[in-house]
This record gives sequence, C-alpha cells and structure tokens, in this order.
Amino acid sequence: MNKLWNGRFTKTAEEWVDEFGASIDFDQELVLEDLQGSMAHVAMLVKCGIIDGQEGERIQKGLEQLQNKAEKGELAYSVKNEDIHLNLESMLIEEIGPVGGKVHTGRSRNDQIATDMHLYLRKQTGNIVTLIGSFQEEIVKQAENHVETIIPGYTHLQRAQPISFAHHLMAYFWMLERDKSRFLDSLKRINVSPLGAGALAGTTFPIEREYTAALLGFDSIYENSLDAVSDRDFILEFLSAGSVLMMHLSRLSEEMILWSSQEFKFIEMDDAFSTGSSIMPQKKNPDMAELIRGKTGRVYGSLVGLLTVMKGLPLAYNKDMQEDKEGMFDAVRTITGSLKIFAGMVATMKVNEKIMEDATKKDFSNATELADYLAAKGIPFREAHEIVGKLVLFCIEKNCFLGDLPLEVLKESSSLIEEDIFVILNPYEAVKRRNSAGGTGFEQVKLALKKAKEVLAGSKEPLNV
Ligand code: ARG
Repeated sequence: MNKLWNGRFTKTAEEWVDEFGASIDFDQELVLEDLQGSMAHVAMLVKCGIIDGQEGERIQKGLEQLQNKAEKGELAYSVKNEDIHLNLESMLIEEIGPVGGKVHTGRSRNDQIATDMHLYLRKQTGNIVTLIGSFQEEIVKQAENHVETIIPGYTHLQRAQPISFAHHLMAYFWMLERDKSRFLDSLKRINVSPLGAGALAGTTFPIEREYTAALLGFDSIYENSLDAVSDRDFILEFLSAGSVLMMHLSRLSEEMILWSSQEFKFIEMDDAFSTGSSIMPQKKNPDMAELIRGKTGRVYGSLVGLLTVMKGLPLAYNKDMQEDKEGMFDAVRTITGSLKIFAGMVATMKVNEKIMEDATKKDFSNATELADYLAAKGIPFREAHEIVGKLVLFCIEKNCFLGDLPLEVLKESSSLIEEDIFVILNPYEAVKRRNSAGGTGFEQVKLALKKAKEVLAGSKEPLNV
C-alpha cells in the first residue's frame, strides 16, 4: 500500500517499524475532532477561493459520511496509515476520489493534531467541571445531614479537637471548588486555535485563520505559528489541574478507608462500592476508594511523563510529541471515572453518628476547652496549657478523662474552675462554641453550607461549544 507521503521514498519500512511509529491505535479517539477540524478548514478554503465551491461540497459530503461511519464505529483503521489524519484522508479519497486530497491544502498534520487536541480537551474539561459540580452537590447533601454530628478532628492523626462531621466533609467541597476554577481557567488557554499554522511557518495560501477559529468556537488564534504547533502547555495544565484534583480525591479516599475500618467504624460504605474477599467471608473491602488512591499515581505519571517529553525539544514539531496523547487520554478516563465513583460513594455511605460522637467522649480532645476557659479567666494561655497538661497526665494515670474528674480535684489545679466547666468540656458544646469565621461551630457550618449552595447555583456552565 502506498503511503500518502510516499513521493520521495524508494524503500518501504518493514511492518513492525511502521507499527512502532504509528499512533492510530490510540489517536483514533480524536476521530470526531479531526473531522470537525477538517470541515472548518474546507469551509475556509472555499470562502477564501482556494478551492472551488463544488469541490468543497464534495469534500464536505465525504467528511460527513466519514463522520456518520465514525459515530457508528464503522471505520476500519490501518496501521499502514500511521495516524488518525492519514487514515481519514485516505478514507476520504477512497470515498470521493482524488479530489479528497485537496482537504490538506494549506494545512499540515502538525497544526491538525494540535487543533484536534485543543478541541478534545475543551470538551473533556467542560465535562470534568460538570462532574466536579455533581460531586460537590453530593458532599453538600451529606453535610446537611450531619451539621451536628460530632467527630474527632485530628492533627498528626492524633485526636485534636472535636469538630462537626459536616465541617470535615465541606473541607473537600472547597478543595473541589478550587479544582473547578483551575480547570475553568485553563479553558482560556485551551480555547485558542492553532489551525492554519501549517507545518511550522504558516502557508503561502491566502487562508483566514480567524474564520476557522470562529467556526470551531475558539476565542482567538495563536499569534505565532511555531508556538501554535509546538505548544503542549495546555495539556500540561490539564494534567497538573488533574493531578491536584486526584490528590484531593486520594486524601478523601484514605479517610474513607480509615473511617470504614474496624478500628474506626465511623462509616460504612455501600455494598455497591465495596467488594468481598475470595477467601475471608467476613471481609468488605473499600476497593473503589483504594483504587482511586492508587490511580492518582497514573495521573501524576502522565504529568511528569509529558513534562519530560517536552523539556529538551527544539522548535517546532518533533515526533516525540506524539507521546502526549496516551497519558492525556488515560488521565481523562481516570479523572472522570474517579469523580463519578466518588459522587456515588459519598451519597450512599452510612454514617455511624453514635460511634463518631462516642469517640469524642473517650479522649482528651476537650483539653483545649479547659485551657481556653482558664485563659479567658485571665491566666496566661501558656500557664493554662501547663495546668491542663498536668491534669491530662493525672487522668492517664487514673485511667479516666477530664470530664470524669470531680470539681474538687479540678479546683486543686486552679481555683478558677467552677461547676460550669462540665458544660464546657462537653464535646458538643466545644464544637458549638467554635464560632469564628470558617470554624466548626454549627452556625458557621450552616453559613458555609448556604454559601456553598449559592456557589453551586451560580456556577457558570463551562464553554458550551
Ligand atoms: N501522529 C502525529 C502526532 O500525534 C501527528 C503529527 C505528525 N506530524 C508529522 N510531521 N509527523 O504527533
């Protein structure tokens, strides 16, 4: 079979060499974007009088036929044609005859592939932003049920201070909000058209780059043709925003895995998101959360992989850049899959309120309350800290907690301690009183939920093109 670029060659490569160089196995994922780009390009060629109207129409019809077949999965790709661009061009020629070859007038595969990936990532980024929003809604719904559910708050994974479970969940809402804004911001740089940059230097044909850009819904065009074909920053930004998002999902995965362990028993994951063991009948494993934690590494890997591919490349296009695709496709699949799973996992998890709250009563996470109490009565906080520290030590020796000590014993530490201390030491009260802005006090949590709902209601739809 003759290659489309065969003219200057006297020898053909062996099949296994072709296979090594080909990208069709994976870049066929860009088939619809590639056709979309070609249709815009042909419309522009006609508009600018570069090809005549009738030829243009025949080519457009041929491209539409290919689009229909692509949507039905009826296109048969060949490794011999290397990549999606050459496959489609040769199919077009087969479909409508040699006039199909005019589709490539004033264009190169270099601006073509860049265009495809801009179109692809624009669509996928929009979809991811929507999925983040749906996950945030589930977080808000769970949080609304648990404003007054008390859970130990941790630092160093040691119990620190009691908090509202809703407050804990809502921390992830705000992380996701930042993720969303990172993706939305990256759309500004994704939505720029490289089409018409040619191989690297532009073209001698009187093309109109703004016209194809407008047809494809791009906001602007790349200013420099070399930059247009060799820029992969937009993919790096996508992978970087995706890595941060996955890091957040991985942290929540870790927490849900811990919480569902026998040691914590704070939550139970729904059967739909758990699996059993082939040998231990009692097991219910949080596989999906573990997988998401694990898959985070794939997205980091794709980011570091592409950064490494790009770092030594001279301008402009180099074949190394074909390596940008698999990591990007994989990251898109990983991120969209993880977001969908998480929305379901959080929506269906069962929260063991009693176990959570009991946990806060059997620890020293109310020690700060006592120190604050003494400080509020005028004792310098550092001294109050010391007094309470000693009391904690005393309790550990006596095998009890601060709230178990009789008032007389407490008074021995400081005469300023009165009967009202027992209310103060109650974890529920401790949470309620932490009413500073952004704190865990119930009033603050309610305010945060209100704000979160406003944020969700006001969020803009990502580019709808
Ligand atoms: N398959 C190539 C890629 O993905 C398309 C661009 C090829 N350009 C070239 N001059 N070989 O990078």
